[in-house]
Amino acid sequence: MRIEREKINPLSLPLKVRGRSRGLFPEGFLWGASTSAYQVEGGITQNDWAVSRMPPSGLACDHYNRYKEDFLLAKKLGQNAQRISLEWSRIEPEKGKFDERELEHYHQVLKFLKDNGFKTFVTLHHFTNPVWFAKLGGFEQKRNLDYFKVYVLKVAEDLGEYIDFWITINEPTVYAGMAYNEGKWPPFKKNIILVFQVYRNMLEAHNRAYDAIHKYYPNALVGFAQNIWCYEPANPRSFFDRLAVKFLKWVNFRLPFSRTKNDFLGLNHYFYGQLHFSMNWSKNFHEIRTNKNIPRTDRGWPIYPEALYQVLLELKKFHKPIYITENGLADSEDLKRADYIQKYLGAVAKAIEEGVDVRGYLHWSLLDCFEWEDGYKWKFGLLEVDFATQERRIRSSAEFYAKICKQNFMET
Ligand code: BGC
Repeated sequence: MRIEREKINPLSLPLKVRGRSRGLFPEGFLWGASTSAYQVEGGITQNDWAVSRMPPSGLACDHYNRYKEDFLLAKKLGQNAQRISLEWSRIEPEKGKFDERELEHYHQVLKFLKDNGFKTFVTLHHFTNPVWFAKLGGFEQKRNLDYFKVYVLKVAEDLGEYIDFWITINEPTVYAGMAYNEGKWPPFKKNIILVFQVYRNMLEAHNRAYDAIHKYYPNALVGFAQNIWCYEPANPRSFFDRLAVKFLKWVNFRLPFSRTKNDFLGLNHYFYGQLHFSMNWSKNFHEIRTNKNIPRTDRGWPIYPEALYQVLLELKKFHKPIYITENGLADSEDLKRADYIQKYLGAVAKAIEEGVDVRGYLHWSLLDCFEWEDGYKWKFGLLEVDFATQERRIRSSAEFYAKICKQNFMET
């Protein structure tokens, strides 16, 4: 069957999104950026990535020692929220043994953010596991979920007062897919049964963490960050293409958001895909055949703001506040980032105008950083990092974003 996928003019859609929005954001809208511990901190040696066959993140951005400089730059850029993650393997390097010095470190980090007027989004699990937890089978084993809960309780007890938004787990679908289907991340397995088992267990771990945190802080705001693409059938007339889209939507957000407890929805958004159903089991019964005329990031991901708008409209059905906890692009020359930010925020503004309760936007990422299996290849930062000298340079797109953050308004 020939797939007709060249019919739409992809370039006209982003403009449509932008043109209809007035670029106003609600009062109190949160503006900021995101990072994760293993990608930026440096000096992490006791997690499954650091001891795996993959090149380690090493010193990364040395953010562990330079967090003040980094957050002061974010403040100068008008940001009022930051998303960071805690490295479980620092806090609990051995099962049941907590490292008070590391807890004190995070205490200082979070206090610094609060003293500087930031709202804090804190992720408890962003792709990495302490070595001891991985050795016990990690999230493959339901019986291990209690270990995660013990860690969460310790964080709640020691650091909870500085946490405004809790993100229990980052992107369970991506983690399960990359580590258990594609076999590219530790523990490098390729087993479809484990994919679903790990996914289910992570959602269960989230629910248990939700209850544990609420025990300490009944008014806590707890959610998890899900990576949600916009999917469309490659051929809208094909029953099977439509079915592939339905299935992926169900797995990605309909199921998890309706079966878990959440005070808000955390949305990580990067991708748009036109799906074609395929009988190929090894490709999970689908292929992505996205229009070649759509502009791309350095990583080859489509730049298609309409996708974010569509996803936001779908999430409206859950009647929960939405925070965009990641959105951004690899763009080493900083040629496309400002325009990307403007168009994607245009999509957000338009969704808000249409009644979607979006309350914050955190750009990925504050810093150029370690990009998992690709090492330091991709440059996602608002701040450029020279990894030889650890110098930071503010990209011009970051100045552009700063204007929007400061004015809570974007010219359209
Ligand atoms: C992950 C980040 C990653 C980003 C860009 C997201 O899915 O949460 O850790 O750096 O994608 O690749």
